[in-house]
Amino acid sequence: MIKQNDNLKYEVFVTDQVSLCRRLFTSPRFYVVFLVVQVAIIALVISMWDSDSYSTGQMVVITDRQMQEVLFNGTEQHFYFTGYLWDTTNTTDGAHISKCPIISPYLVGYRKPVINERIVWEEVLEKYKAVRCDSHFQPSNCKARQKVALIVPFRDRYAHLEVFLRHIHPFLMRQQLDYGIYVIDLDDKIKFNRGLLLNVGFIEASKEYDYDCYIFHDVDLLPENDKNLYRCSDQPRHMSVAVDKFAYKLPYAAIFGGVSAMTKDQILFVNGFSNKFSGWGGEDDDMFNRLKHHNMTVMRSMDDVSMYKMLKHKQSDPNPQRFKLIKTGMKRVKEDGVKNLQYKIMKKTEFPLYTYIKITF
Ligand code: BGC
Ligand code: MN
Repeated sequence: MIKQNDNLKYEVFVTDQVSLCRRLFTSPRFYVVFLVVQVAIIALVISMWDSDSYSTGQMVVITDRQMQEVLFNGTEQHFYFTGYLWDTTNTTDGAHISKCPIISPYLVGYRKPVINERIVWEEVLEKYKAVRCDSHFQPSNCKARQKVALIVPFRDRYAHLEVFLRHIHPFLMRQQLDYGIYVIDLDDKIKFNRGLLLNVGFIEASKEYDYDCYIFHDVDLLPENDKNLYRCSDQPRHMSVAVDKFAYKLPYAAIFGGVSAMTKDQILFVNGFSNKFSGWGGEDDDMFNRLKHHNMTVMRSMDDVSMYKMLKHKQSDPNPQRFKLIKTGMKRVKEDGVKNLQYKIMKKTEFPLYTYIKITF
């Protein structure tokens, strides 16, 4: 109960409050603080919105350190248990020849890429017991555990392609893979489109051979450690984890660019890449969102194994539309991808070291 005396105190208190409020609202300092707080809130909302295209959200990204350890130190049983780098060799086909060991005896681990290495191809083939069969290479004395297509989007970078081929062939032979390399080029009149070219590479390589695994590979990235196994897993893999250009650190958690590996089923499940990212950037972020959208997990190798050297080049102009495309990407997953892609082949040449395909519309 409020007594008279208390009432008085209360009134004084209320009038104090009212005059405090009045003083506050008429004080210029209050408006300055109010404005600053508002600007800070708006900036925070914008930054959250923007980084949304790059955030992993609910997506689980597994670093497969444990799996790599099992792989290199464990037994064959451990290998099957992890489900990692599973075996896709069909026992009925090529039964006369035994499967290659899980870990190839030719692996050397870390080796700094030599840019202008002189290669005598016959010697390399002999050393790693590899043979060329149609457009792909395979071990001559055992059955590879996976058939892998390397898809390389390309425009006018022959100097890089030469260095890449000299580096990657012996690297893949040391891993005892059955592999083919597909270099996919686009009509010069059309703006470069990495996602679209990767889709084309997937479609064209699938027509040539029954590949299990597709590795999407930038021409300027050279893997430095051959324990970075070029195989697919039961979830999509992001492989170029530690690139020298980014001080061997991931630039952001949701990155899926550079080098990534997906099986045929994984690619078809998410309808491949978007075809809408003309110019530089974003198509890999959109793929990350596609994986997230389909409740998949990204596997990332250990950064001490997944080290890459990037060949120097002028940075292309980023596509300013990419953020908008990333934001609206999930509305288009069904109709924008590998399933509905139309194109014409302008040129197709089977060179000894790679298949070159140039397309137009
Ligand atoms: C682009 C990606 C690119 C990454 C790293 C991002 O801003 O959207 O496409 O892979 O930067 O260069
Ligand atoms: Mn590059």
